[in-house]
Amino acid sequence: MASNITLRSATEKDFPAIVQLAEICFGMRYDPPEIENIPGIFPIERAIVAVDDGQIVGHTVDRVMTLTVPGGDTVRAAGVSAVTVAPTHRRRGILRSLYIEQHARTEAEGLPLTIFTASEGTIYGRFGYGPTTAMNEVSIDRHRAEFRPTTPDPGGVRLATLDESRDHLRAVYDRWRRQTPGGQDRPDANWNIWFADTERYRDGASTLFVLTHPDGYALYRRKWGEHENVTTVVELRAVTTEAHIALWRVLLSLDLTDRIEASLTDDDPLPHLVTDPRLVRVKGRYDGLWLRVMDVPAALTARTYGGNLDLVLGVEDSFRDAGGAFALRVRDGVAECEPTTRPADIELSIDTLGSLYFGAHRARVLAAANRIQAKDGAQLAAFDRALSTERDAELGWFF
Ligand SMILES: CC(C)(COP(=O)(O)OP(=O)(O)OC[C@H]1O[C@@H](n2cnc3c(N)ncnc32)[C@H](O)[C@@H]1OP(=O)(O)O)[C@@H](O)C(=O)NCCC(=O)NCCS
Repeated sequence: MASNITLRSATEKDFPAIVQLAEICFGMRYDPPEIENIPGIFPIERAIVAVDDGQIVGHTVDRVMTLTVPGGDTVRAAGVSAVTVAPTHRRRGILRSLYIEQHARTEAEGLPLTIFTASEGTIYGRFGYGPTTAMNEVSIDRHRAEFRPTTPDPGGVRLATLDESRDHLRAVYDRWRRQTPGGQDRPDANWNIWFADTERYRDGASTLFVLTHPDGYALYRRKWGEHENVTTVVELRAVTTEAHIALWRVLLSLDLTDRIEASLTDDDPLPHLVTDPRLVRVKGRYDGLWLRVMDVPAALTARTYGGNLDLVLGVEDSFRDAGGAFALRVRDGVAECEPTTRPADIELSIDTLGSLYFGAHRARVLAAANRIQAKDGAQLAAFDRALSTERDAELGWFF
């Protein structure tokens, strides 16, 4: 980074300049309820700014999030957001310097993971981040969708307003995120933005409609088009399979809707509830959460495993100069992990470890892509099995 540019912690006075920089860099305008609530999500004192001649030209901020990991335990993670560098100052190493500082602070706080959502897929691998969840964008022809005769009809769904369902949404989300790897605790300030239901997220569609169930909820929008009417499910959280089926039964019963759009994880049962699974047509796939392991033993011992292991992982982490060999021993799902001088059985880079962590990407697939080197095929197969998870990981709320 050029020597005239300095990094420092932000103060409250910097907030308008940080908002302006984000609007310029992401090419949008925040609505007032967002601006009011951003500091409640990302405390200004946790922001780092890059300054050139008194002007803020770079920014990053984080929030300490409580993140559910495979097996149901939680770990504290740095959730990084609003990573921006002014278009006048691009490609001079400002992002790189901001990340060196961000990682130093995360390490000093002892947080074993760093997470975020990425604007582009090519930026963050070099800093040790890998995509760690996978979501399918589906489009369903509602007129042709019929439930199989074997699909239960549990009922229990109520129509509600956003205002009256606030407490219910919060409570269900909290139950959902505790059982879902990748789910983070959700601050009130983030809910406030949802409850304000601002114009920016509507894309010409209606404000939010709400369906509630004792163990779930669905938030959706309707859009009347010239050729077709579309319902977009913005968020569906179901804590039980009954709630999932009950909510989808109502969504697929919405008259005057030609198509329903939603995001599903790979193991979502919806295609198997209807007579023609092809109707749940995948039209896109996106990554959601990205993960960097900051502390290999702490991260690997926080989650559970689907099989016993006894091997040495050789982890390359050149960006933080923090890799090494780690002995990983798993018995009955529980791991012990510590640095070792033994030679590695399986070698991989820290971003690949991030992609494996939540089980959404398989070790055998990444080995086939030459992202993992294993001495022994049987050991790779055991590693692959042990990392696979019972529940699909999913990002709780976008940040
Ligand atoms: C993405 C952004 C933060 C990069 O900032 P920057 O200061 O120009 O980045 P740096 O100069 O520090 O680049 C660091 C490295 O990342 C690479 N890089 C930066 N932006 C990249 C991009 N958009 N695509 C691919 N690589 C990128 C650089 O080539 C450089 O690589 P190297 O050091 O390995 O040679 C900036 O362009 C921006 O604000 N973009 C719009 C907002 C955005 O997308 N933010 C990210 C939100 S997740």
